[in-house]
Amino acid sequence: MSNIHSNIFKFNKKSLAKAIKYLNNNEIVSVPTETVYGLAGNAYSSKAVKRIFKLKKRPKVNPLIVHYHSFDKAKKDVIISKDFEKLYKKFCPGPITFVLKKKIDSKISNNVTAGLNTVAIRFPKHTLIRKILKYLKYPLAIPSANQSSRLSTVSPLGVWQEFKDKVKMIFDGGESSIGIESTVLDLSGKIKILRPGFIQAKELSKVLKKKIYLAKKHKFIRSPGLMKRHYSPGIPVYLNAKKASKNQAFITFGKGKQMKNTFYLSEKSNLKKAAKNLYKLLREIKNKKYKRVYITKIPYKGLGIALNDRLKKAAYK
Ligand code: TXA
Ligand code: MG
Repeated sequence: MSNIHSNIFKFNKKSLAKAIKYLNNNEIVSVPTETVYGLAGNAYSSKAVKRIFKLKKRPKVNPLIVHYHSFDKAKKDVIISKDFEKLYKKFCPGPITFVLKKKIDSKISNNVTAGLNTVAIRFPKHTLIRKILKYLKYPLAIPSANQSSRLSTVSPLGVWQEFKDKVKMIFDGGESSIGIESTVLDLSGKIKILRPGFIQAKELSKVLKKKIYLAKKHKFIRSPGLMKRHYSPGIPVYLNAKKASKNQAFITFGKGKQMKNTFYLSEKSNLKKAAKNLYKLLREIKNKKYKRVYITKIPYKGLGIALNDRLKKAAYK
């Protein structure tokens, strides 16, 4: 499977050495994480970071998440708070990103943070990316491996479809187990969730012993992840649909009628399964040349909040 394209690599000593060499030379390598695949570059190097922005055609105002192996390494770059320590203990490594104040003497490139005095940090759980991070003397800036405003990717082939041979290496770490991006939690001021994800407000509230809210619409774009249009499969998406005609794709949550054009997020209405399948199905539908996609209603509770967030943005016209 991974030999179809010459830039897709299985993980072993040789490919690890190759990746480290590329990263040390400010090149970009695609890596799996438990949430989605990413494009990784040295977060301390403006040259590497500029390359990431260029590859993704990402607006310069949209900052990147810096990924670390462990707490001790992150302490050099951000100002730690008690709340952060509690959440780190409970959820890390794992699918959560923290926005914290940047230290004045932090080496993080200004291009990563789009000039903000805060920085988003994350400790991914996937063993492959953790092995790479352990070897490096710098953290990695890793946005999702997709063209800006498009669907994220959950497999090496998905990354290849987005970037072809423009990235030197794409690691094959299997399918991402979670399937949607990390929860982004702002701890730099009044605590709020900037991007809902796998780890939910209720779980955060329990650890911090205070109510945690999802950020509402902002007068200015506080987290560009709050941009209205995002995660687009490149074809029109219609929400809360009850049916679709034969030549349009229909995504159901729960059993639904079995037709050739029906795609199942989760036959048993399981939200975790639905999260894992969402980007995969949308990409498959696009590849099958459907012109439109209709999606049934997903309950707005638990993980359904993050799913609805992604769908609403994917459907935005
Ligand atoms: O699960 C994930 O977080 C994946 C994997 C690859 O780790 N990464 C990811 O990165 O989703 P990206 O670049 O696609 O999304 C980063 C989000 C954006 O919404 C960005 O605006 C927000 O994090 N962000 C980054 N730095 C920020 C900051 N200093 N303040 C507020 N939001 C920030
Ligand atoms: Mg993204």
